[in-house]
Amino acid sequence: MKSSKLAINGGKPIRKEPLPLEFPGVHHMDKKEIKAAVRVLKSRSLFRYYGMNLQNEVHKLEAEFAQQLGTKHAIGVASGTGALYVALSALGVGPGQEVIVPAYMWVAVLAAVVNLGAIPVLADIDETFCLNPAEVEKCITPKTRGIIMVHMSGAPGNVQAIQKIARDHKIFLLEDCAQCNGGSIKGRKVGTFGDMAVFSFQMNKNMTAGEGGCVATNSLQLYRRAFACHDSGYARDENGRLILDDPNLHLWGRGYRLDEVRAAVLRVQLKKLPRIIKAMNHSKYRIRKALEKFPRVQLRKIQDPAGDTGCFLLTTYPDAETARKVNEALRAEGIVTSSQGVSDILMTRWGLHLYYNNLSLVQHASVDGRGFPWKLAENAGLERKYEKGTCPTADSLFERSILIAIPSCLKKRDEDDIIRAFSKVLPVFLP
Ligand SMILES: Cc1ncc(COP(=O)(O)O)c(C=O)c1O
Repeated sequence: MKSSKLAINGGKPIRKEPLPLEFPGVHHMDKKEIKAAVRVLKSRSLFRYYGMNLQNEVHKLEAEFAQQLGTKHAIGVASGTGALYVALSALGVGPGQEVIVPAYMWVAVLAAVVNLGAIPVLADIDETFCLNPAEVEKCITPKTRGIIMVHMSGAPGNVQAIQKIARDHKIFLLEDCAQCNGGSIKGRKVGTFGDMAVFSFQMNKNMTAGEGGCVATNSLQLYRRAFACHDSGYARDENGRLILDDPNLHLWGRGYRLDEVRAAVLRVQLKKLPRIIKAMNHSKYRIRKALEKFPRVQLRKIQDPAGDTGCFLLTTYPDAETARKVNEALRAEGIVTSSQGVSDILMTRWGLHLYYNNLSLVQHASVDGRGFPWKLAENAGLERKYEKGTCPTADSLFERSILIAIPSCLKKRDEDDIIRAFSKVLPVFLP
């Protein structure tokens, strides 16, 4: 394309109207979700165990979610953060243990490990923007209890290699699929590779009820332990009766149950999930294809494009300065959403997804003011550093990359505008 004057230099912007906000599931909400929520409200049965006319929405969601995922069990919970606590508790995480986490994640991953008294150990990422298996291998010590593999920004990481490491070292693998619900590798869904998996149904996620989450596993024992932890501390049998004769299932509950209204909405969203993902994947790969013309722009390494949920496009530039200039120029061309949304930002602005932006981690913050968990006797000698510089590949990728959200309702002309903006800006900064 012949270059015209960039908007950042006073030229005409490609578009004036902001791009649609992200929120994948929300764009596909219609009368069906409304009907489902109203049905539960009319039944006056909002609690999963009883009511005036119980609809068993949570129970049905759990069965349907497990079925579409391909695991034996699923537990609906109040949030993805809650799902992390429940799964890690089921896996027996506590003081004196290290849990390997990626440099690129969401703060809830760190919080769950720390609040349970264990020590998070940062492992660097690679061009998949997920855990680098070679770096994970280097982090393993006799104190390592497990690995949390976070499938970030919509696409699966190299979970097969991480699964092998976990098996070889006899440690657990927990998959955090909050940002990749519905993603897969060669037809196998993320969330089925690990001992357990967690999902979030918060409003930014591929399916949503505003808040909510899920824990999935194939293990009956882990399922029962997780069920106990999400509820009152006791597991239940198939008939819903408390299991009181197994001391391994006498735990402490967190009260993270999911309610019937959100479960009803989520059951509708679950049916729409393939459609939502298809829309984002289609838009993203149209844009990626157009960017292949610019070999100096590095596209995120994706194992299996067909299994990418498509909610984010990540592009990486030769240096931080070029990334900054391209980003400013794209934004000036109108590749932005309204202020509530996140689109087209330098990754260094991606807040609590970056390990070194988590000041509580960097500063070893403690809720009890007495150094929990860092100063526990069991954790002596396990101290780690978390400041910038700990994970150099992540540091470099963050400062050289731009993140663009791909809403599930992009029209062809919106995609065209994104492609036109890149095609106008890139030849100027990457001749
Ligand atoms: C990777 C990851 N894990 C966990 C969570 C926590 O989910 P929630 O916001 O539902 O607590 C999120 C979402 O915000 C996330 O992105």
